[in-house]
Formats: sequence, C-alpha cells, structure tokens
Amino acid sequence: MNFYVMTLFPEMIENGMNTSITGRAIAKGLLSLTTVNIRDYSVTGNGRIDDYPYGGGAGMVMQAEPVYRAYQALVENRKSSPRLVYLTPQGKVFDQAMAEELAREEDLIFLCGHYEGIDERVLEEIATDFVSIGDYVLTGGELPAMVMMDSIARMVPGVLSNQESGQFESFQGSLLEYPQYSRPEEWRGKKVPPVLLSGHHGNVDRWRRDQSILRTLRNRPELLSGAEFDKKDRKYLRALLQDEQEERLTEEEKGFLAKLLAF
Ligand code: ADE
Repeated sequence: MNFYVMTLFPEMIENGMNTSITGRAIAKGLLSLTTVNIRDYSVTGNGRIDDYPYGGGAGMVMQAEPVYRAYQALVENRKSSPRLVYLTPQGKVFDQAMAEELAREEDLIFLCGHYEGIDERVLEEIATDFVSIGDYVLTGGELPAMVMMDSIARMVPGVLSNQESGQFESFQGSLLEYPQYSRPEEWRGKKVPPVLLSGHHGNVDRWRRDQSILRTLRNRPELLSGAEFDKKDRKYLRALLQDEQEERLTEEEKGFLAKLLAF
C-alpha cells in the first residue's frame, strides 16, 4: 500500500506515521509514505498559497493552482491516477466499511486542507472521494488523513503481527468489544470476573458475548439493529429486560431491548 499526502505540514504526517505500528510497517516496506509540500508549488514565488475568498467572508482559501501543480508532480509519469481523498467535515463519514474498501487500493492520495478550505474548482478536477472523520471541526486535514491511514494500514497483510490482529474486531458483527483483564487477579480491591479464571472456554465465550451485547446496548444501541442474535443471545437479552442480570438498565435501554426482541 502506497500512501501519498499533499499537505502544508509534511513533518506532522511523517512524524506521526513513522511511529509505532505504521512506522514498523514502513520500515519493513509493507507501506510507503510520500509527502508533498503544497507550499513548494506556490505560484507567487514567495511561498504563498492562500488568498481572500471571492464574495467576502472570514478566513483565507487555498488557491487552486498550487494544489493542482502539487498533484501533477505526484501523478506525472503514471499510467492511471490513484483515488484522491479530500479530508473535509462536509464529506461522507469514515467508518470501518470504508476503511476496508480503501484498503483494497494499491495507491491512495490524501489532500489536507487548511484555512477555510480549498478553491472548489481544483477539487472538482482531482478529488474522487470527500471524507469526514466525524461531526466536529479540526484545524486541518492532517489528523484526519492520519486517522484514515492508520485504520487502512492495519488491514494490509503483514502490518499487524498475529498477536495484534486477534485483538480488535469491534464493529465486526456490529457489536462492541468485551472488557479485558490482565494480572493481578485483584487490583486495589477490584477482582477479575471469576468466569475468566475458571478455565471453562465455553463459559468464557458466553460471558464475553453477553458483555459485548451489554456494552453495545449501553454505549451504541443503534448498532444493535444491525447485529444478528442466536437463541442464546436472545435468552440473555430477555434476562436483561426482565432484570435477572443485576445490570440495572435505564428505561431507555429497556425500551430499546423490548423493540429489539419484538422482531
Ligand atoms: N478537516 C477539518 N475537520 C475535519 C473532519 N472532521 N474530518 C475531515 N477533515 C476535516
């Protein structure tokens, strides 16, 4: 997987991506990272790449030509142009499914904006995807690009060790991950749930599945409508609804469960 990032802050991208698991993958040659400093393509000769917005208003707009030249420098001598992701709060919201889809590409270009955005005309020319990482506004597209690259990179074969790849899977099957515990058995008076010490794999699996369901109900109930439940799951859901689990559900959580069980 080859990542290309068009940015005003290449050092931010390089420092972030050359750290930890993505850094190890770059060193191993499983990923490559190329940054292009848009400022190097200033057309005024003094490194300026922004100007006032037509129609007035606050802030500055990144001009079309420096962005276009930076792009041309990246794609020149290539047979086909890779997909280009423009990071913007106005884009489609990034999720695991999108990460999986983008991980199938050989090359990806990310375009990071700053100020009040980029002249629309160059986006029409070069951007294939408009992506937001969530409903909040950041100062630039660098952190969103790194968020996307991190989650795409971990799906590239070999990037995660066997040990690392077993340990996530939140959002697989629409349920959140169950809680984890490690030594000691008792920490500041808090004990590890006894079932995890029992050595009974069937009971451990059942407990973890129940905890995933409970956690999803508490934190992200809207995800439950996309999940599939078998007989044993439904038994747990019914027990929760009937207060047999000492979990003290709120009325809202119970309402959600009741609707879920009605289907
Ligand atoms: N640029 C600024 N905020 C952003 C966001 N939430 N997602 C993507 N790009 C952005």
